[in-house]
Amino acid sequence: MATQTITNITFNNGVTIPQLGFGTLNVPADRTPSDENTAKTAEIVGLALELGYRHIDTAQMYGNELGVGRGIAASGIPREHLFVTSKLGNGNHRPDDVRRAFDETLQKLGLDYLDLFLMHWPVPTLYGGDYVSTWKAMTDLLAGGRLRSVGVSNFQPGHLKRIIDETGITPVVNQIEVHPGFNNDAARHASVSRGIAVEAWSPLGQGKLLDDTAIGELAARKRRTAAQVILRWHIQHGHIVFPKTMHPKRMQENLNLFDFELSPAEVAAMDALDKGEAGRIGPNPNTFDWIPSHEHII
Ligand SMILES: NC(=O)c1ccc[n+]([C@@H]2O[C@H](COP(=O)([O-])OP(=O)(O)OC[C@H]3O[C@@H](n4cnc5c(N)ncnc54)[C@H](OP(=O)(O)O)[C@@H]3O)[C@@H](O)[C@H]2O)c1
Repeated sequence: MATQTITNITFNNGVTIPQLGFGTLNVPADRTPSDENTAKTAEIVGLALELGYRHIDTAQMYGNELGVGRGIAASGIPREHLFVTSKLGNGNHRPDDVRRAFDETLQKLGLDYLDLFLMHWPVPTLYGGDYVSTWKAMTDLLAGGRLRSVGVSNFQPGHLKRIIDETGITPVVNQIEVHPGFNNDAARHASVSRGIAVEAWSPLGQGKLLDDTAIGELAARKRRTAAQVILRWHIQHGHIVFPKTMHPKRMQENLNLFDFELSPAEVAAMDALDKGEAGRIGPNPNTFDWIPSHEHII
């Protein structure tokens, strides 16, 4: 089974995470938490687990925690063999809401504990710019025995510096947009230099990089697919990745990354595809303030 070959990354608190997981943003595409969508999410997550994925990435804002939890429960895989991440929604940043929303997350996932809980976005334009109290409330959850690790997502260098300076507590992870079109060097280096592991979201550039000519040529030379060489580039950079796909064949393809290597020159050639800020696909963390309608509204 492919899980045996997936490498682990060790966080700054000693907890380990499989370097490759399964992403669930837009599983399914319509994120309304309807019965039909919950069943579809459970089915897709169940397929991923059957194929060997043991690390699942979800979020309150994806509206699919119930389905993820049902897929996990139906798999019968012992809890200690799984690594499950969820993220605090943008509407839940007040300390009381952090505690309430974390309880809801565990309830929806049907789990006694979560492996990793992330602040999804700093939303510095909301809550009077106070993401520090939110971070403190999240780190307080560690004492309850229901959370193993706490981290952040979409934190720019200044956001990281501020929470660490003001609380003395360093996140284990910063989950940020990274792919060959957008190396996100400043946020990556600010994380790594502080001992914070980098999780690369949209590792395939949401599929947009799969048609890139240079990547296609490299993939052909390696007798691999474009998705595999991109994901291998992430693995060799030490990023934790969790590509999303609804298709079992692609799930399998994305698992098969541990029996080939890119040379240093091949990695460097992919590094050179970086377009800087112009390559960013997702929102800018300095201004993003979206709160989905199914969440508690501030
Ligand atoms: N923290 C954050 O703010 C944040 C933001 C975005 C994402 N994330 C996390 O990161 C995960 C991954 O990012 P993402 O879902 O945005 O994008 P992604 O994984 O980079 O790309 C997903 C897209 O690529 C396609 N795809 C996947 N594998 C493929 C393959 N082998 N061949 C061809 N096409 C393939 C999928 O299509 P099909 O489904 O049709 O196969 C889908 O359209 C998310 O699911 C989520 O867990 C976090």
